[in-house]
Amino acid sequence: MKCIEIKTNPSYNVWIGPALTSQIGKLLYSIANGHRVAVISDMYVDPLYGEEVIASIEDYGIEVQSFPIMVDEKTKTLDTVETLLSKLAKENYSKEDVLLDVGGGMISDIAGMTAALYLSGIKVVHMPTTLLGMTDAAVGGKAELNIPEGKGIVGTVYQPEMVIADLDVLSTLPEQEIKSGIGEIIKYAVIEDNGLYGKLMNHVGRADMVELENIIADSVEIKNRIVSEDPTGTGLRGVVRLGHTAGQAIETATDYGVLHGEAVGLGMLIMAYGTGNRKTGDKIKRLLERYDMPTAIDWPDREIIAAALYKGTDDRKYEGTYSIVVPEKIGQCVQKKVSARSLTLILKKGLVAIGHSKNQSSKLRLLRPFRRARS
Ligand SMILES: NC(=O)c1ccc[n+]([C@@H]2O[C@H](COP(=O)([O-])OP(=O)(O)OC[C@H]3O[C@@H](n4cnc5c(N)ncnc54)[C@H](O)[C@@H]3O)[C@@H](O)[C@H]2O)c1
Repeated sequence: MKCIEIKTNPSYNVWIGPALTSQIGKLLYSIANGHRVAVISDMYVDPLYGEEVIASIEDYGIEVQSFPIMVDEKTKTLDTVETLLSKLAKENYSKEDVLLDVGGGMISDIAGMTAALYLSGIKVVHMPTTLLGMTDAAVGGKAELNIPEGKGIVGTVYQPEMVIADLDVLSTLPEQEIKSGIGEIIKYAVIEDNGLYGKLMNHVGRADMVELENIIADSVEIKNRIVSEDPTGTGLRGVVRLGHTAGQAIETATDYGVLHGEAVGLGMLIMAYGTGNRKTGDKIKRLLERYDMPTAIDWPDREIIAAALYKGTDDRKYEGTYSIVVPEKIGQCVQKKVSARSLTLILKKGLVAIGHSKNQSSKLRLLRPFRRARS
């Protein structure tokens, strides 16, 4: 098991290892003893791990109540947060009580925002159950919601008390979601590398527990160095948006037909090729191919470009300029502000360079059979 201290203010620990679900009560005891715990869980994850989570908390004599919710990109909104706020208020949750969210990045975004707003802030603990949540979404305190004008436009920074990443829960995560998580890990390899690129080239599967723990810890360490220097995202933290300018545009244009981490992977490629960093693009592509991730997309370029320019991803627009992250080399990314015209040219060039997917498997990915089937 690994424990990484995230050096924000306040600081907190990220626990990474196997068999942590059964230890939740023990880990929560110091902050929840004598108080209540509200578990906000993903409706599909709850039947898998809810009982074990509740039992472990009750074993430590802590009162606990479960609030399973269904959330997707279209309901990762203030409305859902408001519903949860009402439920907490009706149940008389107090400022000393604790929110524990159990699920992927959608759940930690919703729960993080709910915790930040309820009684002007109550304690929150994230238990990410996706690879993407463990490596990125649950770490750093950002909670982002969508509005019709775009993805991630509404947000706050609210640090959790603790993050508990139980590697065992990844055994039930669909393969495509594992790949989506790998997309964000590749992002950290491109941002800082530190040996992560090489480790990833060896292909880490979900069964390689030791290597999995190592690459998750490496990503968390890299994010730690970034968020501890710039917790709110006005400076250095902007680099974690590598791959997001085009990636989020792809998500919005395709109506979330591509998983977040897959879109980030494509976004990194588009940005590398679009800014003339071909060698870096080739290296990123090799890594994406290593994990059988999409490296091309079957969608009209103009719709993706329009989404980046007008639909408004969470790129801050500074007096008519757009903030982008350029992967110059593996381990070296720079933030730049560009005009709408330059961004259009970069995206056009990048999209032409990656081309359109010709094979059926990329098309299937776009249909997102797993998520659609349940919605
Ligand atoms: N706030 C941040 O800093 C930040 C960073 C990165 C991503 N995000 C956000 O995170 C979201 C993506 O998160 P995600 O990829 O974790 O997706 P997610 O939360 O939608 O979960 C993915 C799917 O996997 C299922 N699932 C989750 N855990 C499971 C398990 N252990 N076993 C079986 N099924 C399981 C869920 O029901 C869901 O259908 C996006 O909305 C993105 O914007 C936020």
